[in-house]
Amino acid sequence: MSLIVGNWKMNLNPHDASVLVHRLNEKIEAKEGTEIVLCAPFIDLYPLSKEINHKKFKLGAQNLHPNDHGAFTGEISGAMLKGLVQYSLVGHSERRAMGETDVFIAKKVAAALRNDITPVLCVGELLDDRHHNLTKKVIVDQLTTNLSQLTAEDISKIVIAYEPVWAIGAGTPATPEQIAPQIRTIRSTVEELYGEEAANVRVIYGASVAGEFVKTIMNIEGVEGLLPGGASLNYEEFAKIVSAVQELD
Ligand code: PGA
Repeated sequence: MSLIVGNWKMNLNPHDASVLVHRLNEKIEAKEGTEIVLCAPFIDLYPLSKEINHKKFKLGAQNLHPNDHGAFTGEISGAMLKGLVQYSLVGHSERRAMGETDVFIAKKVAAALRNDITPVLCVGELLDDRHHNLTKKVIVDQLTTNLSQLTAEDISKIVIAYEPVWAIGAGTPATPEQIAPQIRTIRSTVEELYGEEAANVRVIYGASVAGEFVKTIMNIEGVEGLLPGGASLNYEEFAKIVSAVQELD
């Protein structure tokens, strides 16, 4: 089962979101074996839930609060999203850059699972980490803390996205030589923390994904899906990504 998670980021009001899903619906055929998730801004989720073809598309949030209710002005919780979305990004690098700590992210992963939402936990190194040979350490540290509130059983319900931060929005993804070792690191870390079975956790890649790169990235051992950002806002490009993945399935 391949997973494609489009991250719209802070783009598209409800009207524009509706136009995009209308076009995507025309361009994309549902195919068994490929799951397509649209991570739309909060304000778009409810109207989209009435509009999308649920056989083709699933909805995802881009973030959620660790608590279910309370005095947290401006926040949206997993309890509020429950039933509306099946997925949520957690710990995206753009949120980490705003000050989210690994411990805070761990609580969000737990909050998602508590509310029957599949967390797509994003991990990845900065360019500076890579230059200092810290890539592996950064990923292991992120995973160790971000997953610390979970049980071995929970691991089968999560998705981990490897997103090298320096390649996000860069136009060119990381190379297979750069991606493959990190996918192995993710699986071996999860296995060490939660046992052999946990190594089967779903792992996807994100950062500058576009149609032309799909084959190369999906052929890397252990990559089970993609997380396009910019390309998910362009219906032709997103449809290209989907059909390229479907051809491989
Ligand atoms: P990009 O974004 O595809 O535009 O590089 C990916 C992401 O930030 O998740």
